[in-house]
Amino acid sequence: MKRKNSPLLMLLTQILLECILMATGVIGLGPVYNLTNPETKTVFLVPSDSSDDVKSFAEARAICRQINKMADLADMAIASDSAIVQQLMVNADAKHSHWLGIHDIQTETVFHSLRTGQPVVYSAWKENKPTHDDSKNCAMLEEGRETWDEEKCDGGTDRGALCSILHEQSQESGCPSQSVPYDGLCYDFHPLRVADFVEARQECEAVGHGRLVVPYSLDETRFLQLHAQLSGLDAVWLGIWDNDTDEVYRGLYGGATPYFNWESNEPNEDLGNVGCVVMLADTGTYEIRDCATPEGGIVCQLEPGIFLKTEETFLYVFV
Ligand SMILES: *[C@@H]1O[C@H](CO)[C@@H](O)[C@H](O)[C@H]1NC(C)=O
Ligand SMILES: *[C@@H]1O[C@H](CO)[C@@H](O)[C@H](O)[C@H]1NC(C)=O
Repeated sequence: MKRKNSPLLMLLTQILLECILMATGVIGLGPVYNLTNPETKTVFLVPSDSSDDVKSFAEARAICRQINKMADLADMAIASDSAIVQQLMVNADAKHSHWLGIHDIQTETVFHSLRTGQPVVYSAWKENKPTHDDSKNCAMLEEGRETWDEEKCDGGTDRGALCSILHEQSQESGCPSQSVPYDGLCYDFHPLRVADFVEARQECEAVGHGRLVVPYSLDETRFLQLHAQLSGLDAVWLGIWDNDTDEVYRGLYGGATPYFNWESNEPNEDLGNVGCVVMLADTGTYEIRDCATPEGGIVCQLEPGIFLKTEETFLYVFV
């Protein structure tokens, strides 16, 4: 995935991009409180205004992204994280329960961190939780308590979002705070964001070494499928296309042949859709879609890099 751009140019582009994003940052949200755990250096953030409460896990993730481009729903690594969160809730005078970035969608009662993709190392379940209730796959922090409960991921009850930004050392993978590591790369899922193919591609490639995701195995496709669901997306654009309508689909960036998980009647350009490919979140299968129609989510594939944290902002630099 190496390109020939100079590292300095890339660094400057990245810094500029982050500055613009920070400047345009929070739109239409009430006051956001934050506290940093000095031990883990994780920054926890919570909007204090209950008008910012949302009904689903994916919507809560979108709120976190709106607060900060590197934020996502929080998990807790050690007990001191939990103590900091309690203090933050008091500072923010937070009402309601809060969505956490923790789920057991893959295996009942084996809760995974959204951020690391790994089973959680610290937990604070209330008594007799979690249960084997297959409909309740997302974790939340109970109102006014330190304990966690489980709930339906599209729960339907208004809840706040507990967000966090991870310090570089909390991401052993070297992945940016808002992305999930998988097989040596970082996958940045944009919750609830739907775009056309060109926009999706541009957004990914605007970040140094960023690409629209190209899957190379069934396992990787399954990983994409799970996280598309967790991001509230029905379909995501893949970096696979037929740019000359010869009905031969290729990876956008050349190299090895992508893994194709076509839906049974695909690829079929007779259906009138030509050129681009989405993966459906329900089935993990691929369908051809018109490149100019906004009906796919954005998943960018990034290379692990290094973090720079300044007083004002977080920077992420690709080396
Ligand atoms: C945390 O809050 C302080 C002051 O309230 C603010 O200056 C800072 O930018 C916030 N940090 C983040 C990461 O939002
Ligand atoms: C189609 O893809 C090939 C190979 O990636 C590239 O050389 C060619 O310029 C592309 N054509 C268009 C119209 O984008």
